[in-house]
Amino acid sequence: MKFTGAVAVVTGAGGGIGSALGERFHDAGATVVLSDRGGTNLEALGARLNARRANSAHVIIADVSVESENQRLVTQAREIAGPIDLFFANAGVGAGTDLGSSESDWNTSFDVNVHAHRWAAKYLMPEWLAAGRGYFASTASAAGVLAQIGSAPYSVTKHAAVAFAEWLSITYGSRGISVSCLCPQGVNTAMLRGGDRPATKDSAIDPNEGNVVRAVGAVLEPAEVADVVHDALVAERFFILPHAEVADYMRIKATEHERWLGGMRKLQKRVLGF
Ligand SMILES: NC(=O)c1ccc[n+]([C@@H]2O[C@H](COP(=O)([O-])OP(=O)(O)OC[C@H]3O[C@@H](n4cnc5c(N)ncnc54)[C@H](O)[C@@H]3O)[C@@H](O)[C@H]2O)c1
Repeated sequence: MKFTGAVAVVTGAGGGIGSALGERFHDAGATVVLSDRGGTNLEALGARLNARRANSAHVIIADVSVESENQRLVTQAREIAGPIDLFFANAGVGAGTDLGSSESDWNTSFDVNVHAHRWAAKYLMPEWLAAGRGYFASTASAAGVLAQIGSAPYSVTKHAAVAFAEWLSITYGSRGISVSCLCPQGVNTAMLRGGDRPATKDSAIDPNEGNVVRAVGAVLEPAEVADVVHDALVAERFFILPHAEVADYMRIKATEHERWLGGMRKLQKRVLGF
């Protein structure tokens, strides 16, 4: 895709990877619609980008865990900025631990990490199909192609996010719709540092979970990830893997599955002690 003159919507743009994506797409010449829940750094980012280029960044507060909010986001983004060229469903939550994860953690994980993607696509697709073009990208995780040690809800919902993106690509790829899926390992954001979680162990990912991510490879800065994403979207590649080793792990998982499972158990023992 070409970013110059494009309209790009990014959810979860109030911090971390989403903020960096919004800024990178804006640098590349796009008009950006930045969305997140209230109480984030969204407004400050919008003001900073508008100071660089007037009327080039718009802010929409929306809770993507609710279907009607996704519909409103798509509708308002079109009204404010014009036809949407790229929608990046990046908002995500890291909630839950093991079999004791609460129903609420499971439901929130599915709502934000999976259903938000399909709700957005549902309201984007009619206009995109009529135009014969549109770009849907989502942030899943390396946990969506491998596994997340320590969190069943995160592992399961991120796999579902990858599956949904693949389904979109297969179903609409020959009708002008491009799809990409970002699957990073560790990125230095509030989520990795545990900032998006309640403090109690009952309802949050174990604080050690950040250590699992750190144990398997480099922790990248959001801006580094955004550069990789920009180049992958220009090339219209489906999988975006800022940590190149994830492709190797995927190959081992596909060809030597028992060995891969054993390796993951060893990693869990090393980091979590069981
Ligand atoms: N940080 C990592 O190591 C890492 C690794 C792989 C994947 N990811 C994924 O990257 C994405 C971005 O996360 P991040 O690491 O930048 O963390 P982050 O916590 O900085 O950003 C997540 C954003 O999503 C927003 N969000 C959560 N629930 C929402 C809702 N209901 N409605 C609207 N916005 C909501 C949050 O307010 C936050 O701004 C997530 O999907 C996450 O799962 C992160």
